[in-house]
Amino acid sequence: MIKLKQEKNIYIITLNNKPVNALSLEFLSELSMLIGEISTKEEVRSLIFRTSLKHFCAGADLKERSKMSNEETVDTIYLIKLLFFNIYNLPFPTISLIQGACLGGGLEFALSCDFRFATNDATFGFPETTLGIIPGAGGTQFLPRLIGTQNAKKMIYSGESINSREALKVGLIDELCNSKDIDNSAMDLIDSFNLSSKHAIKSAKVSINQGVDLDLKSSLNIEFREYIKTLDTKERKEALKKYSNY
Ligand code: CAA
Repeated sequence: MIKLKQEKNIYIITLNNKPVNALSLEFLSELSMLIGEISTKEEVRSLIFRTSLKHFCAGADLKERSKMSNEETVDTIYLIKLLFFNIYNLPFPTISLIQGACLGGGLEFALSCDFRFATNDATFGFPETTLGIIPGAGGTQFLPRLIGTQNAKKMIYSGESINSREALKVGLIDELCNSKDIDNSAMDLIDSFNLSSKHAIKSAKVSINQGVDLDLKSSLNIEFREYIKTLDTKERKEALKKYSNY
């Protein structure tokens, strides 16, 4: 259901849970285990999520969900939320490459990444309200933070999907690509991080992700804490060496 490929220090996860990468319990378990393993690997510089199918991810496995009790549903949503929060907190840049449907839990998946690149045929939406529920694995929190409360309310209240062009306009995706170029575009973005220290990127990500929801004083304290962590790194010492003879 999942293929993992490594290109130097870039990890690429290809989702292949036919037919639509719906988030079944089995798929979630496989994905959660893999993310747990990757999160501890020192050599990883960035992680890409892509699909080998027509769609990125159609969200909850509704066939499975239709047979679940409320308790089982709550447990499943908790698992999905935890997986996406773990992806959000990965200590390196993450990018999702989106084609076809990116709906419900599929959109929450994409929102847990640092960046989203999409092809012309991609569609984004939270159909949950039309199914009698609300996005419950981060959608009502991550979407307004990214595209603003008004745009998020329109999408969530209506349950309607938007296309890639609209997604680019509201800032839901970072780049709109031809399907033949999308992998290279992602690699170009990753290459642009190559000169930066991976420790510095990790600290910057923690500072941004943790600080963004706090008051300014608390967020500046987080930035200060993360700055201090970079002081003894090899990269910082080498960078300063160039200036040590002045
Ligand atoms: N769960 C389980 N099966 C699904 C599914 C889903 N979310 N979405 C599609 N499928 C199945 C279809 O039933 C169909 O199965 P059969 O071949 O056995 O009939 C197969 O996938 C292909 O589907 P389509 O023929 O519809 O394919 P398409 O390419 O024309 O359209 C689609 C694909 C746009 C994803 C469309 O199927 C669709 O809109 N699906 C529903 C999406 C949805 O509502 N997702 C749930 C969001 S709620 C959520 O995610 C909450 C949460 O808990 C995280």
